[in-house]
Amino acid sequence: MFLQQLKVTGFKNISAAQLDFSQRLNCFVGLNGLGKTNCLDAIHYLCLCKSHRGLPDRNLVKHGQDFFRLEALFLDEERASKVVAKFATGSRKEFERNGAAVERLADYVGLYPVVMIAPDDVSLVQEGSEERRRFLDTTLSQISSNYLQQLIQYNNLLRQRNALLKTFAEERRFDAALLSVYDHQMEAPAAVLYQQRREFLARFSPMLSELYALISGQRESAFIGYDTDAPLDGATMVHLLESHREKDRALQRTTVGPHRDDLNMQLSDLQVKKYASQGQIKSYLLAMRLAQYEILRQEKGVSPLLLLDDIFDKLDAERVQQLIGLIIERDFGQIFITDAQKPRMEAVLAAFPGDHQVFDVTFGLE
Ligand SMILES: Nc1ncnc2c1ncn2[C@@H]1O[C@H](COP(=O)(O)OP(=O)(O)O)[C@@H](O)[C@H]1O
Ligand SMILES: [Mg+2]
Repeated sequence: MFLQQLKVTGFKNISAAQLDFSQRLNCFVGLNGLGKTNCLDAIHYLCLCKSHRGLPDRNLVKHGQDFFRLEALFLDEERASKVVAKFATGSRKEFERNGAAVERLADYVGLYPVVMIAPDDVSLVQEGSEERRRFLDTTLSQISSNYLQQLIQYNNLLRQRNALLKTFAEERRFDAALLSVYDHQMEAPAAVLYQQRREFLARFSPMLSELYALISGQRESAFIGYDTDAPLDGATMVHLLESHREKDRALQRTTVGPHRDDLNMQLSDLQVKKYASQGQIKSYLLAMRLAQYEILRQEKGVSPLLLLDDIFDKLDAERVQQLIGLIIERDFGQIFITDAQKPRMEAVLAAFPGDHQVFDVTFGLE
């Protein structure tokens, strides 16, 4: 599977563009601020129905305009499919595939798997647990459409339950039976999220460990654990919520559940956030992304699109060489790279044996 052509209208700083891609390696070069990352984000949006940073759709519309439109031609074993993503300010986004409207985005996400490696990945280590859950959700949503459906359902129920807790506090009343209706409804989606996250991490951690060793050449061992208050044998989400009822009432929000899950990132039994060096963090994050890529490839049976944003700024020359080596050796699918320095990119291309395309990005100058 690869992206053959992309047409962009009114997306971020891109007024209109048509890009015809190489099946292997595509490079966006240009000065900072001119739209390289926006090109990757357009691809990300077409695959995952959302921007890389999770921005609301209305922020993706080019300033001064009232809609954007993305059109992609994906080629899969000689079969072409055309995907159109449309968003007009004030409406809901719409996706079409081969002329037919996509009814549920949860069924669409995962058809064109994608992994993006970006400078802000460091927030996975440095920021709060939300970023790490987002990593889990973005990966698992592409693997299982049921996961994404249950996630949407769980989040809706959670919003309603939290609103109810707020109302109780404001109106100085409490209705245990009403609250417990939500508790019971949350049981099934929570169980799916807990189980799929647990199974995923059991596979993901050894893969991460192997890739970290390969990238860093270091002795320390990388590990990632599932930090959860998922109910243990026999207990249920309903029990869990009941045991936290007083706390939830006091804090006016749901204090336990999959929306509190976290990842425990470790190098040789030490927390990455507290003890790892800058270099170790870079290697750890790169290993995480490559493991994400590998799992998606195994699960989907196709190579995901790989989006590498400002990779050369993030990684020192030695790691870039290793990465390029890995990419060549492991026969990755289609790759998109951005860099502000053309000579540096040209040096990499000289070492790349396959077909490639370079795009000079100047959208910001229009
Ligand atoms: N909705 C938008 N409308 C117009 N311009 C936007 C919008 N969102 C972002 N931009 C502009 O896009 C530019 C950043 O583009 P980006 O792709 O990040 O550049 P780079 O080439 O450095 O990766 C900024 O100048 C920003 O103001
Ligand atoms: Mg950029």
